[in-house]
Amino acid sequence: MNTTFTTQNKVALVTGANKGLGFEISRQLAQKGITVIIGARDVSKGVEAATKLQSEGLTIHPVQLDVTEPASIEALPNFLKEHFEKLDILVNNAGILLDWGTPPSQLDINVLKKTFETNFFGAFAVTKAVLPLLRQSEAGRIVNISSHLGSLADTLDPNSPYFSFQGMAYQASKTALNTLTVQFAKELADTPIKVNSATPGWVKTDLGSTDAPLTPEQGADTPVWLATLPADGPTGGFFMERQPYPW
Ligand SMILES: NC(=O)c1ccc[n+]([C@@H]2O[C@H](COP(=O)([O-])OP(=O)(O)OC[C@H]3O[C@@H](n4cnc5c(N)ncnc54)[C@H](OP(=O)(O)O)[C@@H]3O)[C@@H](O)[C@H]2O)c1
Repeated sequence: MNTTFTTQNKVALVTGANKGLGFEISRQLAQKGITVIIGARDVSKGVEAATKLQSEGLTIHPVQLDVTEPASIEALPNFLKEHFEKLDILVNNAGILLDWGTPPSQLDINVLKKTFETNFFGAFAVTKAVLPLLRQSEAGRIVNISSHLGSLADTLDPNSPYFSFQGMAYQASKTALNTLTVQFAKELADTPIKVNSATPGWVKTDLGSTDAPLTPEQGADTPVWLATLPADGPTGGFFMERQPYPW
């Protein structure tokens, strides 16, 4: 039974990593000895974030990556091949929440489309673009940063703290992202690649607000655990605090 994940010579890409959870996930992966490429739609923010983590002695490289821009995504595989020759870990972290507190009847369809562009179509496009590289890895890992707000079980449970939350665009995009997890995990079941969703919990970031109880350090733990799962670890699951979470 293989109960360890070798971090030596591993390369990870984290999308939307210039701040918040993506930044902290990148830090924790790099602290394990993994070479981490931080995606940022604004290249100057990416360079600034990379410089900060490099000053901590970590192996970090920035790449311009807007997950809603096809040209930016199409350039990725060649960039990765040219500079790193491989990719072992993809963390689909880039995300937006535009409709916090908006009832569905008041939701502008353009907000719904914009949210899906980033949170779902973006993750799909990046995954598809780098999958050929991940297939070449001896231990490919895909982690989709979902949310408890995408859990239909929570949304339907009157006892859940998230029962009354209104933000259908964000919620539906994360439910769809969970479907992406399940479908890719099924397709890749006979390969070493593992595909899982994580909810970091409610985390203090620009998206999560200062009211959130968790720190980015705490929120990054489960995504990093999933990104470094051993060969006998799970695939096709949804996790919070390293435990299965209801869909
Ligand atoms: N915070 C929470 O409580 C919480 C809970 C559950 C799930 N999540 C999920 O965790 C992930 C990270 O969120 P966060 O809380 O760290 O939020 P955040 O601090 O607002 O960071 C979001 C990141 O995504 C990037 N981004 C947005 N649109 C992008 C695009 N089109 N292309 C590339 N990057 C893009 C942002 O870049 P810019 O700096 O350029 O805007 C930023 O780097 C999201 O998927 C979010 O849904 C968060």
